[in-house]
Amino acid sequence: MTTAALTVLDHAWALLAAVGWLAAAVTTLRGYARVALTLLVAALALTVGKAVSVALLAGRGWWFAQEKVLLGMPLLAVAAVIAVAVAGPPLYARVTGASGRAGDRPTGVVALFGAGYAALAGFGLTYLAGYPLTLPVALITVGLVLAAVLLTARSLAAPLEAGEANPDAGPSLSRRGFLGVAGGVAAVGATGTGVGLTLLSSAPKHTAGGGPGPSGASPVSVADLRGPDTPAPGGVRRAYELTARKAAVRLPSGQDVDAWTFEGVAPGPQITATQGDLVEVTLANHDIDEGVTLHWHGYDVPCGEDGVAGLSQPKVNPGATFDYRFRADQVGTYWYHTHHVSHVGVRRGLYGVLVVTPRADPQPADLDVVVPVHTFNGGPAVAGVEHVAPAGATVRMRLVNTDSDPRRFALAGTGFRVVAVDGRDLQGPGETSRTALRVAAGGRRDLVFAMPETPVALFVDGVAAVWVRPRPDAPDGEAATQDTAGWPELDLLTYGTSAPVPLRTATPDRHFTLVLDRGVAMVDGRPAFAQTVNGRGHPSIPDQIVTEGDVVRFTVVNRSLETHPWHLHGHPVLILSRDGKPAEGSPLWMDTFDVRPGEVWEVAFQANNPGIWMNHCHNLPHAEQGMMLHLRYDGVSTPFHGSHAAGHRHPS
Ligand code: C2O
Ligand code: CU
Repeated sequence: MTTAALTVLDHAWALLAAVGWLAAAVTTLRGYARVALTLLVAALALTVGKAVSVALLAGRGWWFAQEKVLLGMPLLAVAAVIAVAVAGPPLYARVTGASGRAGDRPTGVVALFGAGYAALAGFGLTYLAGYPLTLPVALITVGLVLAAVLLTARSLAAPLEAGEANPDAGPSLSRRGFLGVAGGVAAVGATGTGVGLTLLSSAPKHTAGGGPGPSGASPVSVADLRGPDTPAPGGVRRAYELTARKAAVRLPSGQDVDAWTFEGVAPGPQITATQGDLVEVTLANHDIDEGVTLHWHGYDVPCGEDGVAGLSQPKVNPGATFDYRFRADQVGTYWYHTHHVSHVGVRRGLYGVLVVTPRADPQPADLDVVVPVHTFNGGPAVAGVEHVAPAGATVRMRLVNTDSDPRRFALAGTGFRVVAVDGRDLQGPGETSRTALRVAAGGRRDLVFAMPETPVALFVDGVAAVWVRPRPDAPDGEAATQDTAGWPELDLLTYGTSAPVPLRTATPDRHFTLVLDRGVAMVDGRPAFAQTVNGRGHPSIPDQIVTEGDVVRFTVVNRSLETHPWHLHGHPVLILSRDGKPAEGSPLWMDTFDVRPGEVWEVAFQANNPGIWMNHCHNLPHAEQGMMLHLRYDGVSTPFHGSHAAGHRHPS
C-alpha cells in the first residue's frame, strides 16, 4: 500500500473510531445496552486498526507518524482502555441480564465520550498540526481533551445531583467534586501553558543543517551579485525589451481572455541565445499595478539577476524598469516568469520561454519547436498546433509546463528519446515509445525523434495538442486513435545510462529535511490553514544557511495529499533517490521535481552560486499559502524587503 493510501486510511480509522466511541457513549446513556456493547467492540476494533496504520506509517518514515506515535495514539489507547474497563463490565452485565438498571452511573458514559474525544483529538492533531509535534501543541491537545471530558461529566452529573435523593450522593459527590476541580485545573493549566508558549515562542531565524551557523562574515549584498557585462569570447549581445501590460489574448479556441502579458502576447516573446552570449533584458511595466519582475526559472544566474521581488530586487511598478544581464552559459530549455504576486501573474500570462542552443550543435534538429503548456480560465494556450517535417527529419520538441499542476504528455505515432530534463542533457537516453511523460509544474522535457512517414501527435493530458505531419495534407492516421491514457509513465530514475557525478553526496556538509504538509500556521503574520514546511509557513520558516562550496543534501518528504513540485532557485539538484530507491539511470539534474503524496526524495547540490535563494513549491498558490523559504549563503544580505516571492497583495 502506498504511504498516501495509508495516510488516508489512518484518517479514516481515526474518524470512524471517534464515531464508534461517541455512538457507544450515546447509546449507553440512552440505555440501549446491546447496541452500546456492539458499538464499544467496534470502536475498540477500529482503535486497534488505527494503531496498526500508525505502526505501518512509522515504518515508512518517522515524519509520517511522529505526532501519532508520541501523542495521538497513546492518548487514544489510554482513553480506550479506561472506557473499556469502566463501561464494559456494566454493559456486559446488563446485556447478559445480571443487572437491569440504566442511566444511573454516568462514569462509564463519560469514559466512552472521553475515548471519542481522544480519537478526535488525534485526528485534529494530525490534520491541523502534524509534524513536528511541539510541546505547546501537545499541551493544548491534552488540555482540550481533559476539558471536554470534564464538561461532559458535569453536564451528565447535573441532572442526577439535582434529582431525587440518592443514597450514595454525599460521598461520591465530594470525590467527584475533588476530581472535577483537579481535572479543571489540569485542563486549563495545560491549554493555557500551551497557548502561552505558542504566543511567546518566536520562530528560529535559521537552521544550519548540521553545519556551522552564520559566521558574521563581512556581508555581501545581493544587489552587488550581478551578471557580467561582456559575452564570452565568440558570443554576442542579445538585447530584449519586455514590457508588461494588460492585453486581450486570443486562445486557440478562439476565445479572448484578459491577460497580463509581456509585449501584448502570452507566452511572451521567446528569448533565444547561443551559449556564451550575453543576454540583456530590460523589463518595463506599463500597467500591472501589483508590480512585476523577471525570474529565469532553472537558469542559474547571479543572485542579483534572479528576479525575486523583495529579495533580489524591488518589484517593478508601473512606469519603472529593471535591467537584467546574464551570460547564457547553460544550454537548454528554460522559461521566465514574473516572481511577484506570481500565483496570479504567471497564471494570467506573465511568462515566456528561454532557449539556449550550443555554439556548435553536434545534432541540430531540422524542426525545433517549443510547447509552452499553459492554462487560462478559457482553456489551454496550446491546441491545434500544426508543423510539417519531411520523413526522416530530426524533430526536437521542448515541452514546458508553465501551469501550477503537473501535466501528462504522450507522443503518439513514433518512438522518441528524452534528451534533456529541466534543460540538462541526459546520458544515453534510449528510445522509448508508448510511454507518457509527467512534467512537474515549472518543469521541462526535450524530446527528439526521427520523423516517420506518418503524422505524430503530442497529447497533453489526453488531448492531441500539437501535430507534426510529413506533408501538410497527411491524414491523422493511427496517431489520433491511440489510447495514450493507458500508457505507463516513463520513470526518469531508471532512464538512460548511469555515470559518475563529481559530487560528494554520501558525506554532505549540510543536510536539511523539509516535511511538506498542510496545517494551521502563521502566513505573512496571519493564522491560516497553510501549506507548511516543517509545520511553519512563510516567512516563519527558518532560513537554510549554507557556505559557498558546501555539498548540501535535502530530504523532501510529502506528508500531505497534494503534489508539491519542489523548486530551488539558482542551483540544479541531483536526484539521489525516491522512497529509498536510488536513482540508477542517467545522472538526473532537475530544478523542479514533483514530490507526490507520501513520497520521500533525496537530492543534493553544490552550493556554488552565492546569494539568498527562494526554495519553494512551484504550485504557486501553495507558495502563496506559505510553502516557501530561503536558502541563504553565509554572509549574504539583502537591502530589499517588504514583499516576497508570491507577494502579499492580491489584485483587487
Ligand atoms: Cu519558477 Cu520561484 O519560480
Ligand atoms: Cu505545493
